[in-house]
Amino acid sequence: MYLAWKVVCFLLFALPSLSISSLAERFKEDGYVEVCAEGHGASAFDALYGHFDALIEFLQSNTVWVQKLYIAKERFIRSKERNFYSTDFFGLYNESNREKRRQIAFYYSTHFHEFICSHYPEFNQVPAILHFFEACHEIQKPYPHIFQEAAGDLGIAAIFSSEYGLPPLLLKVVKYLPSYQAIRPHYDGSAFSLFLDSTDGKALLLSPYKSAFTVEDFASPLKAFSRHQILLIPGTLLTEFSIFPTPHIVAQSGKTRYAAIAFAMRPHYIEKKLSLPPLPNFAIE
Ligand SMILES: [Fe+2]
Repeated sequence: MYLAWKVVCFLLFALPSLSISSLAERFKEDGYVEVCAEGHGASAFDALYGHFDALIEFLQSNTVWVQKLYIAKERFIRSKERNFYSTDFFGLYNESNREKRRQIAFYYSTHFHEFICSHYPEFNQVPAILHFFEACHEIQKPYPHIFQEAAGDLGIAAIFSSEYGLPPLLLKVVKYLPSYQAIRPHYDGSAFSLFLDSTDGKALLLSPYKSAFTVEDFASPLKAFSRHQILLIPGTLLTEFSIFPTPHIVAQSGKTRYAAIAFAMRPHYIEKKLSLPPLPNFAIE
């Protein structure tokens, strides 16, 4: 499996026509690169979303477990493993009742998973939690190597140096409800973000970085609807290398939409204050 990925990523990032600077150039010109890699198929992601729905349903009727998850997250973000990710985003974010937001997300990482299993063994007795965590664990496996290859090609591999070896990966699984409304694009607080899968790929709109933006700058990067296109974009954590983040937004569709995104974080990183261009309002008044 690993060798297969090495070959694919080598082809992606190291063709003779793609010099070391070309990945940076493509980020600059297009805002993204398409990763031509064989990852998990749509069926693996559909299974992940099925487990996510089962988790949501379980937590809705067993709210004591929402509290237990929250307590586990609060304890995890005080552990030393938290600093590998340099973020406090872990666990469940239920915004289903927030007007316009109307989404439910889970931020998974292998260290958070291991921390819960070792400190709260009772979580292993709950199939809805266990199966979702196992599905997340399986899904995220191939992607740290892509982040490593991208950083290597940009000449910034050292950003991921840590006692754990591979880059820190935060997996976001998100469900947008039909009443979700697109308000304003955002920049991701990551080194890189990989859009792994979505049940409505065309809903993702992005723009290459500019000094000023309008709504018209944002477009779908996909040529045709496909669930096999993985997109890599830079986040806000690489500006010191003159790599600027790609703003993006999920357009509203009136339908339920699931997506999975992998964020590469920066170990032991203290985020700097950035002044990025403001992003336009998409809200339909
Ligand atoms: Fe994002």
